Amino acid sequence: MKKIVISLGGSIVLSNTINIEFLKRFTQSIESAPSLEKCGIVVGGGSLARNYIEPMRKAGVNDYYLDRIGIRATRLNAELLMNLIKDAEKQIPESIDEAIQMWKGRKFIVMGGTTPGHTTDTVAMLLAEAEGISEFINGTSVDGVYPMDPRLNPDVKMIEKMSYTEALSLSLESYKNAGSNVFMDPVSLLIARRANIKIHVMNGNNIENYTRVIENKKIVETLIS
Ligand code: UTP
Repeated sequence: MKKIVISLGGSIVLSNTINIEFLKRFTQSIESAPSLEKCGIVVGGGSLARNYIEPMRKAGVNDYYLDRIGIRATRLNAELLMNLIKDAEKQIPESIDEAIQMWKGRKFIVMGGTTPGHTTDTVAMLLAEAEGISEFINGTSVDGVYPMDPRLNPDVKMIEKMSYTEALSLSLESYKNAGSNVFMDPVSLLIARRANIKIHVMNGNNIENYTRVIENKKIVETLIS
């Protein structure tokens, strides 16, 4: 039986509109995965967060307050998924401690962001660490980690395996501020390294990927360990 935490990128949950068909299929497949014992899902802000953060950044608001705006966007996206999952507390925890409490006796917990200074990747990693879960899925909109954005350079090759330290230095190169577009934020990788949590960075739009990881089957991914 598998215990896992999923960091679900906001771009998977919504593009211009809410990807409701994806959310329904995702819910159905993880709810019916026979070897899934416990699952935490932390939802990102995606375009909702960016559309709120960017104009406010231009208006001179600092990153602390931009992060707070981002957190609200992630919680709103989490609220969507929470309403689809039958065995999830019908409330979005606002801290890791609250999440651990609400998760007791339940298979699923769904949440968004917690405090400024990091992204939902870190929230998800702390949730895994707190619950003693050693496997983590980062569902992104590409197949894995690339040395640079594959949308900018289509010839760039995906990295199949990385150490925590390699991932950390790549993440630090591109992490700048609130709403930064980076494969995983550096804090989440520091937590993963200290807690020895195995990370699957994979295409989260492909529903099969989640069930294959749960069943220990091979997928196209970047494995960070
Ligand atoms: P995301 O986790 O979606 O960040 O949170 P992201 O990596 O920039 O976006 P994706 O994964 O590509 O969709 C959105 C924003 O909310 C704030 C940050 O500003 C983050 O960039 N946030 C989120 C926090 O400050 N704290 C949190 O715990 C979560």
